[in-house]
Amino acid sequence: MNQKVTIVGAGNVGSTAAQRLAEKELADVVLIDIIEGVPQGKSLDLAQAAPIEKHDTHLTGANAYEDTANSDIVIITAGIPRKPGMSRGDLLATNKRIIKNVTKQVVQYSPNAILIIVSNPLDAMCHVAMEESCFPKHRVIGMAGVLDSARFRAFIAMELNVSVENIHALVLGGHGDTMVPLPRFSTVAGIPITELISSERIEAMATRTRNGGLEIVSLLKTGSAYYAPASAAVEMAESILKDKKKILPCAAYLEGEYGISGLFVGVPVKLGKNGIEQIISLELTADEKKALHRSAEAVQELVNAMKKMA
Ligand code: NAI
Ligand code: 2OP
Repeated sequence: MNQKVTIVGAGNVGSTAAQRLAEKELADVVLIDIIEGVPQGKSLDLAQAAPIEKHDTHLTGANAYEDTANSDIVIITAGIPRKPGMSRGDLLATNKRIIKNVTKQVVQYSPNAILIIVSNPLDAMCHVAMEESCFPKHRVIGMAGVLDSARFRAFIAMELNVSVENIHALVLGGHGDTMVPLPRFSTVAGIPITELISSERIEAMATRTRNGGLEIVSLLKTGSAYYAPASAAVEMAESILKDKKKILPCAAYLEGEYGISGLFVGVPVKLGKNGIEQIISLELTADEKKALHRSAEAVQELVNAMKKMA
């Protein structure tokens, strides 16, 4: 039997993720949304592209959760995206309500699923999903680090005019302005970028990475990024579905790792068939540690603000 991935939210990120999953023939795909017709229409459109793209992925569009039953992975992209002038925090109240409601229904039909959360503010929404699902921490994973690191990788490739395939990079922390790009763990063909690029240029790229989401929102004006976010969520799903055990930066619930407890923060994890199979603990310098803790504090503030909401 094929594996099954449900994507909640058939908007920009959700439908692009559905397209990538389908074209890679990773699993049967169910696209679900509250708007009647949209998930059905997009699934049908994708199915009609299949003969040209040459895949046999089974796609379903739905408004009810019965169709999502027994999903192996559920990617949650439901909610409102950022508009110009809005911070990710501005989305807090609305998306909290949506994620709570969605998670409740997902869990009813797929009690063994692994949840990949995408909706913003990302780290806070992971808390909502974990609390509502009562899933163990290895089955609730936030997508942010793969995207933020991909942005850093793209900027490094542009700077050096080399293939993106040569570049690995690591961005840890919360998915906000305090995220922590780590040049010491970012390499070009195994060579640390600190050997190849001046510290001023590295800092400029790190700043551009921290503002990566905002840069796209300011250009698009009517929504936020979705091609790279969808690719990032699908890379995580692929590592789980194929039990590849890739090390990827993801938002994980920490219980003492990096000196942080009771909080979702972006750290390197091993993703396999069980979800998060290991949290990789890196030896950080004092400055890196300080930056990571500052980022964790920003996440904690959002979580505290959310707790005060009804
Ligand atoms: P979008 O507006 O294109 O799509 C959101 C979809 O969610 C809409 O189709 C809407 O009808 C649906 N929806 C709303 N309430 C729902 C509910 N209760 N049940 C099912 N569906 C529901 O937005 P887009 O661009 O796809 O972004 C989705 C979310 O992902 C936003 O919160 C955005 O900020 C976040 N995001 C997070 C990223 C990350 O790095 N973690 C990157 C990009 C986006
Ligand atoms: C991004 O980083 C909006 O969080 C979204 O593009």
